[in-house]
Amino acid sequence: MNLIILGAPGSGKGTQALRLAERFKLRHISTGDLLRNAVAAKTELGRQVEAVMQAGELVSDEIVLKLIMEVFDAPGEWDGWILDGYPRSDDQAEALEDVLSANREVVDAVIYLDVADDVVTNRLLARKRGDDTPEAIRKRLEVYKKDTMPVLDFYELRYDVHRVDGSESIEEVTDAIVRLVDS
Ligand code: AP5
Repeated sequence: MNLIILGAPGSGKGTQALRLAERFKLRHISTGDLLRNAVAAKTELGRQVEAVMQAGELVSDEIVLKLIMEVFDAPGEWDGWILDGYPRSDDQAEALEDVLSANREVVDAVIYLDVADDVVTNRLLARKRGDDTPEAIRKRLEVYKKDTMPVLDFYELRYDVHRVDGSESIEEVTDAIVRLVDS
């Protein structure tokens, strides 16, 4: 099963992707984690993206696509994958369609976690990651609304998009997603 999980910063994409990956034996592909790993390892790529991430802006499409393709090419015993944090714009969604059709892969479902701005902001302020400052959170939400929300329309024309209330408890959100993708 191949899944894409979309939602605002702090909507619970990473939390739910990990739980679904474990449950369905999926490869969890998080562009945020891949980029943070590069920053922590102080690679050349990490140095290029660090300031952009701290500011809550989007890293360039080329860099992120390269990371995604490396993960898709890596061997592993999985029953599919779940993409978390990608795509984040119509251009990235188009690029992903190309990669998938070249690999003869399909998206089985898109999950959209719906959570109000004040709820995600409070969650992020409580977590205190490097990019969880009030200014970076504001910027991430702004970028999300401008660049990433349109991706929902892109997918609604192509795939099943399951809208889930992401403001429930972590367990309730997982159960709701499992019911939808298992049906
Ligand atoms: P990324 O890591 O993808 O960050 P994000 O989208 O801002 O999302 P978060 O990780 O903050 O939130 P989440 O929705 O995963 O929620 P989480 O489960 O962590 O990207 C970071 C940066 O990398 C971007 O700003 C950009 O610079 C760059 N980047 C990444 N991908 C890119 C791309 N494709 N193109 C260009 N640039 C890219 O939960 C958040 C908190 O809430 C946690 O503390 C969690 O415990 C809590 N929580 C979760 N669910 C619940 C719940 N149901 N109830 C209560 N608390 C909950």
